[in-house]
Amino acid sequence: MLRKRTAAPDDNVGNSKVDKNKAPGTDEGAGGENNKGIWSTVTFVGKILLVIIFVPPFLNYASLQREGLMLQPKGGVSVDIGLGQKIHLMCKGKGQPVVMLDAPTGMSSDVWFHIQEDISHVTKVCTYDRVGLGFSKRAIQNETTGMEKVWGLSTTGRMVDDLHRLIKSAEIATPLILVGSELGTLNGRFYSHIHDSEVSDLVLIDPIPEDLFEEDQWQQYWYRNLVPSLQVMQFSAATGLNRMFIILGLMEPVMKGEGVSLDLVQRQKYFLSNPAHQSSAVDEHFFLNESASQVKEISKYKPLSSRTSVSVITGDSFDEELPAHLNQMVATLQKKCLEELYPSAKHIHVHGVDRKMIYKSPSAISKHLMKMIAQRQSRKQSQ
Ligand SMILES: *[C@@H]1O[C@H](CO)[C@@H](O)[C@H](O)[C@H]1NC(C)=O
Ligand SMILES: *[C@@H]1O[C@H](CO)[C@@H](O)[C@H](O)[C@H]1NC(C)=O
Repeated sequence: MLRKRTAAPDDNVGNSKVDKNKAPGTDEGAGGENNKGIWSTVTFVGKILLVIIFVPPFLNYASLQREGLMLQPKGGVSVDIGLGQKIHLMCKGKGQPVVMLDAPTGMSSDVWFHIQEDISHVTKVCTYDRVGLGFSKRAIQNETTGMEKVWGLSTTGRMVDDLHRLIKSAEIATPLILVGSELGTLNGRFYSHIHDSEVSDLVLIDPIPEDLFEEDQWQQYWYRNLVPSLQVMQFSAATGLNRMFIILGLMEPVMKGEGVSLDLVQRQKYFLSNPAHQSSAVDEHFFLNESASQVKEISKYKPLSSRTSVSVITGDSFDEELPAHLNQMVATLQKKCLEELYPSAKHIHVHGVDRKMIYKSPSAISKHLMKMIAQRQSRKQSQ
């Protein structure tokens, strides 16, 4: 058998040879031809599958390497904040008070693009990428010094510690106006409660109520729907599928259209295809309950200084991606939490927008921030 096989002319299609040996004399020509045909189809399909499985991740990886260098935003700097960690910081404009913007859960600083542009006309305004997101690569684990034992990775405590070291390392003037959205509001609150002399005004855009994760319905939605869908995104980024979807026009960046530069569009596509960015986005969502509970503890033990003003900006429309009863739950808890903790906070309801307002209706937010900046500036002059 073995000898025969090796001697066979069509050695590379062993199966059909075996068949021929089993049934000598029967209809040999047709059957053999047929099998050979099927087999070569199978090999062909196999090769195609191999190409589909291995080529996209490889091409994606090669493209990411190149894009990571090419797409660095102009004017951005990489700041060494110690412990081996570097943070991507971008400041525009001149003057004081400085405005610091902290992005929503799982988003890079690009989401502030329009608001930063607007505000840079009146004062210095900075954005940064939290560790793991955007252009702030996660430090190699052995270079960090046990901070993650105190505050888990991708939780508010850790992010605030990073932000504090960033502000010190980059010598950003304080007190500043700290503006956060979603997870950024948890960071902003934590920061203001701890480092109260550094924050003159705290602005919360769509704050996350810290009791939200104590609701079963919310937990179920978060951990059974949202987080798994983000994990799928991470997987499809890693396998290069996201890049293919983008090329085929099946996946699009959220910021597009008028006033959005080609660079900004390319950067968003880069982040969509980048498994490292997507993985950090998953982590921030996954540990959001932990972050909320950290903020709850801090607010209990160290109330906010009366010198820090608090403003809350929310839209009057609900997020369409979220079931109505969950939208209602968020709104109710938000109100309760703010009334208890910051009874003198100023509330601003922006008409006709939902939580996408920071990139869908940026001017509505810029307008309020500019008013606040003008007030601070005139108060400073009159002193
Ligand atoms: C730890 O970090 C240092 C650089 O500070 C590096 O030389 C070393 O290889 C790292 N060790 C491991 C196990 O990654
Ligand atoms: C957050 O959720 C995870 C997963 O459901 C759970 O293991 C963890 O105990 C929760 N943490 C807090 C502070 O509730």
